[in-house]
Amino acid sequence: MLFDERPKKTRDELFDREKEIEEIKNNINRPLLAISGIRRIGKTSTLLVALNELKTDYVLIDCRRLKENYGRQDLYSIFSASFSSIIDKVRDILSGVRGVSIVGNSIEFKWKGRQSLSLADLFDHLNKKRLIIAIDEAQKLRGPLSTEIKDAIAHAYDYDENLTFIFTGSEIGLLYDFLGVEDKNSPLYGRYYYSVTLERFSREMSKEFLTKGFQEVGLRANNSVVDKLVDLFDGIPGWLTFGANRFLEGGKIDDIMEIAISVALDELEKLIDTKRRVSEISARRYKYALKCLGSGMNTWSKLLDCIQRSEGTTISSSVLDNILLSLEKTSIIKDYEFLDPIYREASKRMRV
Ligand SMILES: Nc1ncnc2c1ncn2[C@@H]1O[C@H](COP(=O)(O)OP(=O)(O)OP(=O)(O)O)[C@@H](O)[C@H]1O
Ligand SMILES: [Mg+2]
Repeated sequence: MLFDERPKKTRDELFDREKEIEEIKNNINRPLLAISGIRRIGKTSTLLVALNELKTDYVLIDCRRLKENYGRQDLYSIFSASFSSIIDKVRDILSGVRGVSIVGNSIEFKWKGRQSLSLADLFDHLNKKRLIIAIDEAQKLRGPLSTEIKDAIAHAYDYDENLTFIFTGSEIGLLYDFLGVEDKNSPLYGRYYYSVTLERFSREMSKEFLTKGFQEVGLRANNSVVDKLVDLFDGIPGWLTFGANRFLEGGKIDDIMEIAISVALDELEKLIDTKRRVSEISARRYKYALKCLGSGMNTWSKLLDCIQRSEGTTISSSVLDNILLSLEKTSIIKDYEFLDPIYREASKRMRV
């Protein structure tokens, strides 16, 4: 079903993305691929459809829930859940590996002590068979363990030719920071990766997607509803799917917009929480910056003036530069404009 709200797994559930799926399939023998795009653009869906069509074994490691200061235990728990889901494919090659225990249908990884798992060792053993290691929301791997993880991936790049790593990320600047292929200090420096970027649907494609989806559930699409949803969600498939479902549940367009904004507000609040760990002042500044950007302050000086007025204090230019850089790296804005119209509306309504 086109309007299923979970990530899609098969091509008949996925609208378009033929070109991107072909690109992924044609480059799957490379060691590294990256799939980037803003939130809700369809990264996980496109990845899964390509992987399922390739018929090569793969493991999906979803890093979305990793906290900023995650530790080895958190990381290995995710690895353990992911590899347990393909236990039948890896049971033989992982049994006997240092730090790995196979208990019933789960794979456990030891993260403490001398007998603990080494990631490079894990990859060397996995290399006994062809395997794709797909790491979803890989930018979350930034943090204290990132060098160790990248060292292991760089090792696999050089020696484990049966492995392909695919990274996806919605915080695009942070994903590339994590990979660090242009950073001389990064273990992955200079390694080639094939990059696929997912763009939003055009207006025409958005209309076609909605019309087809409504047809699938036996509804003749009302042009004005389709137009309004397209106006609201600017070609972002996840929002179009979300809006179509709320409409099918009986929601009015204005209510649908409100619900979407409240979802986006929650997501922005989570982003602000990460700033709150630095300081309350920093969190408040981000909120003012988002509010000012939301109200159309689209130059550096207008934005500086707006934040200063809102706060009633002077702020240094480097502080503003850092805020802008961070909002760009998390793919919230580009050139003072929001990449997602719902985030813009939510930002206007942030409470400070
Ligand atoms: N091309 C598409 N055809 C049909 N549905 C799609 C398409 N792209 C995305 N969707 C739907 O949009 C929503 C978001 O898709 P998905 O989770 O794949 O995106 P994502 O980029 O991985 O999102 P996130 O950044 O939140 O992880 C899901 O409900 C999915 O079913
Ligand atoms: Mg995703």
